Amino acid sequence: MANRSSMDGTAGEVGRLLKRARRVLFITGAGVSAESHIPTFRGATAAFADGMTEDGMPFEEALSIDTFQANPKLAWKYLALLEMSIRSKTPNAAHIAMAALQTPGRSVFVATQNIDELHQRAGSRMVYELHGNLRRILCTQCNYAVHLETYESLTPVPQCPQCQGWLRPDVVLYGETLPASAQEAFQKEQSQGFDLVFSVGTTSLFFYVVDPVMRAARQGIPVVEINPDSTPISELANFRFAQPAGETLDGIMKGM
Ligand code: OAD
Repeated sequence: MANRSSMDGTAGEVGRLLKRARRVLFITGAGVSAESHIPTFRGATAAFADGMTEDGMPFEEALSIDTFQANPKLAWKYLALLEMSIRSKTPNAAHIAMAALQTPGRSVFVATQNIDELHQRAGSRMVYELHGNLRRILCTQCNYAVHLETYESLTPVPQCPQCQGWLRPDVVLYGETLPASAQEAFQKEQSQGFDLVFSVGTTSLFFYVVDPVMRAARQGIPVVEINPDSTPISELANFRFAQPAGETLDGIMKGM
């Protein structure tokens, strides 16, 4: 495990592994965007600090498919708050480092739970958006789809300009399954294996972000965790940096 005092040496070791790696996986969560000033879901900078909304329901309920269907105005209120939290935010050193690692000889895959699109904006090309994308808006009734930079122009319950059906963001609401396309594409890459697996800025609460780490550990593939707090996968990590993602990845890249 790397703490601050041993970080330079360990960063060098991970840098050397990265230099040789041909297929690298980054599993990312809200902590990667924390340095872009986007609040995480849980913890010190959480968007819903005590897990409750001002409407007296847990945020998981406000952002659920059941609430969206029964009371779209309420669900949209919290979706709009999420959008406010990502509006005008730009990639930070962590997003930029992951994108910079892509070279003709090294493929870098990013499986993210983030819905803010910052990995793509930093230049990452192979991004699996496991929880979707808040900027993509879809009609619940027809094939209408649009990419919006902000929600400023939307009414409280926006309707489709083609068929008047309700619009919704292309994100996974609580109670829904993951988008099949992202999951299938990610599974295809998983079946080809990776040389190095990073878990960065995630509480690792969902099996689909824990499973790739467990597989890597079983296969003897090095696992690196970057997270100021320990998580359910910390024990499996060969290298653990209890540090913010941006400075850690910068340090690792300097060691390459
Ligand atoms: P969380 O908010 O649960 O966790 C953020 C993690 O980032 C925590 O473990 C923090 O310790 C860590 N962290 C904070 N600042 C960091 C920094 N600067 N560098 C590195 N790590 C840092 O977010 P996720 O694990 O992404 O799901 O949560 C996943 C999902 O929770 C979200 O996608 C959402 C929610 O339920 C859905 O909406 C379906």
